[in-house]
Amino acid sequence: MTVRYDAVVIGGGLLGGALSWMLAGEGASVLLLEKDQLNQHASGQNAGSLHFQLEYRMVENGWESARTAAAAMPLHLHAAEAWTRLGDELGESVGVVQRGGFMLAETAEQVAVLERKVGLEQEWGLDVSLLDGDESRRVAPYLSDSVVAAAYCPLEGKAETRIAGPALVRGAVRRGAHVRTHTRVTALERDAGGWRVTARGPEGELHVHATTVMIAAGVWTTEVGEIAGAQLPTIPLALMMSVTAPTAPFIDHLVQHAGTKLSLKQTKEGTVLIGGGWPAALGRRAGAPDLEVRPRLLAESIVGNARAAIGVVPGTARLPVVRSWAGTTTITPDQLPLVGRCRGAPGCSWPPGVGVHSRTELRPRAVRSRRRAGAPGRPPAVRAGQIRSHGMKNEPLAERTAPRRCDVAFTVDGRRVIAAAGETVAGAMLAAGERTFARRYGERRAPLCNMGTCFECAVTVDDAPLTRTCLTTVREGMDVRTDV
Ligand SMILES: Cc1cc2nc3c(=O)[nH]c(=O)nc-3n(C[C@H](O)[C@H](O)[C@H](O)COP(=O)(O)OP(=O)(O)OC[C@H]3O[C@@H](n4cnc5c(N)ncnc54)[C@H](O)[C@@H]3O)c2cc1C
Ligand code: FES
Repeated sequence: MTVRYDAVVIGGGLLGGALSWMLAGEGASVLLLEKDQLNQHASGQNAGSLHFQLEYRMVENGWESARTAAAAMPLHLHAAEAWTRLGDELGESVGVVQRGGFMLAETAEQVAVLERKVGLEQEWGLDVSLLDGDESRRVAPYLSDSVVAAAYCPLEGKAETRIAGPALVRGAVRRGAHVRTHTRVTALERDAGGWRVTARGPEGELHVHATTVMIAAGVWTTEVGEIAGAQLPTIPLALMMSVTAPTAPFIDHLVQHAGTKLSLKQTKEGTVLIGGGWPAALGRRAGAPDLEVRPRLLAESIVGNARAAIGVVPGTARLPVVRSWAGTTTITPDQLPLVGRCRGAPGCSWPPGVGVHSRTELRPRAVRSRRRAGAPGRPPAVRAGQIRSHGMKNEPLAERTAPRRCDVAFTVDGRRVIAAAGETVAGAMLAAGERTFARRYGERRAPLCNMGTCFECAVTVDDAPLTRTCLTTVREGMDVRTDV
């Protein structure tokens, strides 16, 4: 049987979620199809920077490409407002904080780039101004003395994209949208009234008729375009990010750099997220990029990114990096968004430029030594006598191994688990023998950092996907679903 919808949205990232939510809000019947898990790819792996100034990659290739990229400024301005309102409109937080953002200059050449960039952005209506080094440090005392100027935009900030994506999909569902995960669109055929959509999911083949198909397939945009008979040129980019251990709040703003790849911000948990476009290695099969495998981290990028951060925010030097990861995003050859109707495939669109997006990628474009002397690289040998326990209280063994008093009951995939009041869900699940919390990229996931940084412990709790169990306290009757 073929089910009919006004719109089929392909892709369950930020864009697909936002589109489904908005279309359903207009009264359209919507089906969102996602081949993996919601928010699993770029939308759940990014830095969450809301940056509306032209990025380093837009100014590094000269003035002409900067002018071209600036043509997307109306979308940036719209995005700035849309992100501000989003939490209220959705009725749940998406972690948006807009306390302003800096783009820094440390050399006379970079100052000249900033001056031209700010002039161009002001022409397009962006609220941005040029500060000298001392003025910048008065607003942001954590900046290094090497900063000689900065472009400051008060609209910039951050969002928690790991919660924003699922929140958008929940909003869409509340408005009546239907969602199918692990369901890949395999064919798109045009007919008089729209599109025949074929998808393959856990229950076999699905046939749907849609008046409109919206492609929000991120790095798979070109591939999905091909099955619709449309040419959508995109370039896959593998990028990396790092996160530090938490520390007391000291960075209020988003920090970027006019002369190197850098974006840096502190989260509400106190960790510092460091990224900004340093490359990772795309997976490859038969000489072509393999988008289904996770990109490989490059040591030189991790080091280069950390150096860039320490250079302008010296306070980051004392923070240990607890995790680095890579993800794949996409850009277009001219760095402008791919928006609108697909040429040659009427009724098939990339998301329009009115969505919830922070910048080009979050928007329609996406639908467009340790070293021992004599033994390099080997860790020094450790003798048994050198090993000491640190931080362990000198309490009697009997006390440490006393049975927990379990007075809270909840379920994990329908199985009853008991826990002690005040325990974290992660702790209770581990104590109950649960070893796999989720599966991503075919790998088993379980708690790693135990402090809310790595998201390895995330499961669905009471229908809220990507809930970090290491930060969530057990409650009577809570319904936990592992994503395996
Ligand atoms: C490391 C990193 C850091 C970044 N930092 C920032 C930042 O700070 N600020 C910023 O604005 N942007 C940033 N980005 C870019 C941003 O994450 C992306 O632009 C954005 O998430 C794209 O959203 P999307 O919904 O278009 O794509 P995605 O999140 O990739 O979603 C597309 C979805 O489509 C699904 N799909 C594909 N083909 C099919 C099919 N045939 N059938 C069904 N489903 C399909 C995929 O499985 C995927 O889930 C970063 C990206 C990376 C990788
Ligand atoms: S976020 Fe790392 S274990 Fe929970």
